Amino acid sequence: MARRILVTNALPYANGPLHLGHMLGYIEADIWARAQRMQGNEVWYVAGEDAHGTPIMLAAEKAGKTSEQYIADIRAGHEADFTDFHFSYDQYHTTHSPENQDLATAIYLRLRDGGYIARRNIQQLYDPTRDMFLPDRYIKGTCPNCGTPDQYGDNCENCGATYAPTDLVNPYSVMSGATPILRDSEHYFFELGKFEQLLRDWFAGTYTDGKPTADSSVVAKLGEWIDGGLRDWDISRDAPYFGFPIPDAPGKFFYVWLDAPVGYLASFKALCERTGLRYDDFLGKDSTAEMHHFIGKDIINFHGLFWPAMLHGAGLRVPTALHVNGYLTVNGAKMSKSRGTFIQARTYLDAGLDPEALRYYFATMLGPTPVDVDLDLKSFEDKVNSHLVGKWANIASRTAGFLHTHFDGKLADRFDDEATAIWRDLLAQYEGIEALYEADEYAEVTRRFVAMADAVNGYIATKAPWVIAKDEARRVELQQVCTFAINAFRLLSGLLKPIVPITVAGAEQFLGGPIENFADARRELFGHTVNAFSPLFGRLDPKKIDAMVEASKESLTPAEQAREVAKAEAKKSNKTKEAPKPMTDTTTTHISIDDFARLDLRIGKVDVCEFVEGSDKLLRFELDAGPLGKRQIFSGIRAAYGEPEKLVGRNVVFIANLEPRKMRFGLSEGMILSAGEGGSDLFLLDADQGAAPGATVR
Ligand code: 2FM
Ligand code: ZN
Repeated sequence: MARRILVTNALPYANGPLHLGHMLGYIEADIWARAQRMQGNEVWYVAGEDAHGTPIMLAAEKAGKTSEQYIADIRAGHEADFTDFHFSYDQYHTTHSPENQDLATAIYLRLRDGGYIARRNIQQLYDPTRDMFLPDRYIKGTCPNCGTPDQYGDNCENCGATYAPTDLVNPYSVMSGATPILRDSEHYFFELGKFEQLLRDWFAGTYTDGKPTADSSVVAKLGEWIDGGLRDWDISRDAPYFGFPIPDAPGKFFYVWLDAPVGYLASFKALCERTGLRYDDFLGKDSTAEMHHFIGKDIINFHGLFWPAMLHGAGLRVPTALHVNGYLTVNGAKMSKSRGTFIQARTYLDAGLDPEALRYYFATMLGPTPVDVDLDLKSFEDKVNSHLVGKWANIASRTAGFLHTHFDGKLADRFDDEATAIWRDLLAQYEGIEALYEADEYAEVTRRFVAMADAVNGYIATKAPWVIAKDEARRVELQQVCTFAINAFRLLSGLLKPIVPITVAGAEQFLGGPIENFADARRELFGHTVNAFSPLFGRLDPKKIDAMVEASKESLTPAEQAREVAKAEAKKSNKTKEAPKPMTDTTTTHISIDDFARLDLRIGKVDVCEFVEGSDKLLRFELDAGPLGKRQIFSGIRAAYGEPEKLVGRNVVFIANLEPRKMRFGLSEGMILSAGEGGSDLFLLDADQGAAPGATVR
């Protein structure tokens, strides 16, 4: 039976343009929604603006606009970006809407009546000239720990100390420069601690038929927080505030994070009103529908603690799953305006870059664990051009012409025997694609895509249809070879469809019919006529990438430029102060488990190992990597292994997700690990018997 699924992506704050960091998680959500639709499930994907809070109120004021006008203008920009990156949500809405006010208020009242809301006085810093309480980020002063001036109210950028804003020496209001004073105010608190058991049950899969509610690393993090004690959550803010008033509490407003996730429900409510869908079917306590939230790792606590507790406390269903992504780095570092790597979605588009190139690149980097993803601009160019143009589009572009020249575009009625065997192999690799998408294993989907495309291109290269075509007597063979190529192209197009939907729409146009679902892509097309082929995907032009980086630098305001320069200089002088690290082989710096998880280490069985002509350092390996297919790897260990044929049949350990490298002798698709100092002092790692080819090394 088709599953009924509500999908959300995090709602961007309505106070600035979207950048590529936003797009990472949003693209993950869109691919997932599309993959679910391709399995015939009933998917409702909702999105919208997160429109409330102090920063937005102040930004509007600075822009000389009302908050309403300001958020409407930002929304228009966001929606245009989403549309141009081919997002397939069914509803776009905003938290500043009547639906959201009704829902947030109703949820609050149920929580209050359920006995989950407490009230008490707290002391907070107040700007007497602006007549407002100051959030931590709006108070600066001298670090109580190291004495650095102009540090924020919650932590010091210089020494890393964390503290309360009241600890700052000589504090001042960022808005007016005035010295803040301490003032009392009554705040409203959500008593999260009352939901400890609910949360533990939820993580344990009690509400999801035992299926995990999030990646194990996320569940572990949430568990740590719970073990550390769940504190009451402050859900009120004092006027002036851009948000919804708390009923019966004059001058008090809901904190933006209370009504933000309710915004998912408001967006869905608006969809229900538009389409006749029934809200309770999805949100009612006993709903059998699913609710999946795609979020960044910085907002796990809101979605993994407060949100399920709020829903449950208000008598609604809890989420089915959280899908969490890491941060985006560009060229190996935090996005930086001065380096031109703080790239807005619009700047990317304006540079003439194809949005689907980014969608594809992100897919190759995304998995279920929220590790950071690096957009390395050179490998972005190489990967997209190599995979989408060189491996995929090329299959059709090299063979379609022969079909039109000699057979009026008509496909043969069968494959040749060799192709039949390869087709079986391709189907075996295609098997389980749905489950991979379901589990956010997009990197694995694209790895399979590459392995399959390589097999197809290998077949085309050995058959050389351009040679066969010269021989009148070999027409049957020619048609069969091209028929296989086009079928394989269609299978790969089906696999790619959730990732690059518009590009695949072009492929469907060429194939003369849509690929309705994943199963449909497996169906062989025989005796069918295809349309003329026109290029599906333009190669990424490095000049456009450079232009994007240049344009991103221009988005720096003079004040930002000065800050960037100061930061860089502070960093430099800190570096010179640092004592040089002793470099002995006993020292090691720590990495996090997330860093380790980024390496895809696998067992490979050596199928072929041989000398490389023209190189006195390299050996060429062909590894059987089980589900990952065959891998060719060049390894500089010739001095240590003078009889390469002796390595055939043994196991090695290799890095499977290393960016493939084009070498003079061919493509090297990974790195084989060995121990030792180099030269003849190198020893390959082995695995005990029983380790299957392709097995993961952890
Ligand atoms: O962190 C953010 O950008 C928030 N605007 C995300 C909100 S997600 C949801 F709760 F609305
Ligand atoms: Zn400090």
